[in-house]
Amino acid sequence: MNVYEAIYSRRSVRRFLTDPVPEEVLGQIRRFIRNISSLDHKSRVEIEMFERGNEKLKGLWKVEAPFYLAVYCGGDTASVRNAGYVAEQVVLYLTSRELGTCYLGETKAGMQEKDGLGRFLVIAFGYADGPAFRDPATARRLPLGSLCVYKDEPGENLKAVLKAARLAPSSFNSQPWRFVVYGDRVYIFAKRDAITRIRRMAALRDFNIGIMLSHIMLAAEEFWMNMETVTEEQFLKKAYKNGDYVCTIVFHS
Ligand SMILES: Cc1cc2nc3c(=O)[nH]c(=O)nc-3n(C[C@H](O)[C@H](O)[C@H](O)COP(=O)(O)O)c2cc1C
Repeated sequence: MNVYEAIYSRRSVRRFLTDPVPEEVLGQIRRFIRNISSLDHKSRVEIEMFERGNEKLKGLWKVEAPFYLAVYCGGDTASVRNAGYVAEQVVLYLTSRELGTCYLGETKAGMQEKDGLGRFLVIAFGYADGPAFRDPATARRLPLGSLCVYKDEPGENLKAVLKAARLAPSSFNSQPWRFVVYGDRVYIFAKRDAITRIRRMAALRDFNIGIMLSHIMLAAEEFWMNMETVTEEQFLKKAYKNGDYVCTIVFHS
């Protein structure tokens, strides 16, 4: 399984075996993290791997696992979005190595800060006690028809990209992404509601959007589609009733 294929089989794993992950695999994960591609070269993100040890986990909706990754980033939207984009590539790499993972948005573990960046969340990982993968047809997700407005019928590759985007995990399975498909352009919006008025929820939404953008990038790469991400000022300035404009992705064949 490669990282792209992992999009289709990943699921959140909440029960782990205590079996150690071989040192060689941990080294490969560290190397993968060092070479990961960013969404935005101005934003810094740091990922720290640590073993469970005796540290008591604090926070809500915790999951006990033999290993964790703590994700550190700046507090602005671009940094948080970038952190989601980077973190999901690591999660998919772990899945491709047959490891189970679960994002933990409200768990406090590991250092609170690293090199001036704040810990955004942690990710539990290890060998799953139970099924590590799933059939994507069983993933609880909104149908594409509810996520997309089609101004034009998309081509086969673009449909596959949207299917990969749809499967992205999100906090509380909120799936905040919406797409307007116009020829070879996809306009991306982030849903805004009463919950996103809470600062932490708005930040989680930005992180979720970053996760989804990594699925788009991986699918586009898989199909050899050239894509360019642009931010169109006229949409940024416009106030939408239920969402915020994120960016436009232009696919060049
Ligand atoms: C940013 C983020 C934070 C999350 N926080 C938690 C959490 O604190 N506890 C938990 O059990 N699951 C957490 N999840 C997992 C989601 O509930 C899960 O991804 C979503 O329900 C979709 O299910 P799936 O991952 O199995 O596809 C989080 C996911 C994301 C992306």
